[in-house]
Amino acid sequence: MTGMKQLKPNIYAVGAIDWDRRLFDELIPLPDGTSYNAYLIRGSKKTALLDAVDPTKVKVLRDNLVSLGIKKIDYVVAHHGEQDHSGAIPDILASYPDAKVVTNPKCKVMLIDLLNIGEEKFVTVDDGQTLSLGDKTLQFVYIPWVHWPETLGTYLQEDKILFPCDFFGSHLATSSLFVENESVVYEAAKRYYAEIMMPFRTPIRNNLEKIKALQIDMIAPSHGPVYDKPKFIINAYKDWVSDEVKNEVVLAYVSMHESTRKMVEHFVEALIERGITVKQFNLTVTDIGKLAMSLVDAATIVLGSPTVLAGAHPKVAYAAILANALRPKTKFASIIGSYGWGGKMTEQLTGLISNLKVEVLEPVIAKGYPKDDDFAALDKLADAILAKHKGLKIAVEA
Ligand code: FEO
Repeated sequence: MTGMKQLKPNIYAVGAIDWDRRLFDELIPLPDGTSYNAYLIRGSKKTALLDAVDPTKVKVLRDNLVSLGIKKIDYVVAHHGEQDHSGAIPDILASYPDAKVVTNPKCKVMLIDLLNIGEEKFVTVDDGQTLSLGDKTLQFVYIPWVHWPETLGTYLQEDKILFPCDFFGSHLATSSLFVENESVVYEAAKRYYAEIMMPFRTPIRNNLEKIKALQIDMIAPSHGPVYDKPKFIINAYKDWVSDEVKNEVVLAYVSMHESTRKMVEHFVEALIERGITVKQFNLTVTDIGKLAMSLVDAATIVLGSPTVLAGAHPKVAYAAILANALRPKTKFASIIGSYGWGGKMTEQLTGLISNLKVEVLEPVIAKGYPKDDDFAALDKLADAILAKHKGLKIAVEA
């Protein structure tokens, strides 16, 4: 038995903790590991398993079910098609051949496509539909785009527990079933939001509005610990998805021969003097999860790059592509950097962030090592950023 715990009578966490995983989607750093949470609900008449686990951890899930003495599963509720939850479903169906997969029509198609599950194994449910397990009632809640189009949650009526799958989750391996230290979980949940959920701010806002109708005592996500005081994570999400930005500049840069670095150092000082918070990332050593987190709130992003082969340094181009995909609520952007003899770095980088609804402020590009004029231009850019932040009423007079 590994990591199996009881949330409330007859409701068990039967998933797996992945202490060692350090990368998700071959992209996202997981400094604190993760978990694939699955929940077993034993009703007086029927038994339901909510989600499965990543295929690498199927043995843990199976062993947990055996330890609980589960001989029959009636329903496997699939909230989401992504394989870190659905990947072990075929295995569970093989072990529990009477089980039906309960999901919405969109997820059904995905599970057939991704996992080759037979059509006859499915029961599809509508938004708001209920399914009785006897003394416990599952109510299905469509919560699309957190973070795929098919995402679904389950509200357990009698126990007032919401099982929202990835929504509200955190990549955090911990032996605690419930949140113990809110600041630790806040950090992990914000990282998760930044990397996975941020592009879907508007649907998330709608989903937050939708779940207001439910009386929620507990939120049991599919990654990280269970929230037995759910107000904390609901309020954090409300803040992250709001249109409010902070008096912050994210400065992501690379320097090859110190010209761009000198500009960055001067510019950062100029911003700090103007009362603006700076989050500076040297992209050669940056944890991109930290960069993503900083984009959740910042009003402005500035990219710093030397010119390489007529364009931006590829690591800066990568950061621009990433920011463009994550679609933060950032309002302003600019570019600083240097060149030797020519190139189209600024055009390239502004083209790469075309998804962002930002006003691009006059870039500052130095020929070779920066000189007095370049430093003066950086001061002017800092002034322009301050004026824009003041316009949003997020900066005060320095
Ligand atoms: Fe945790 Fe989108 O899967």
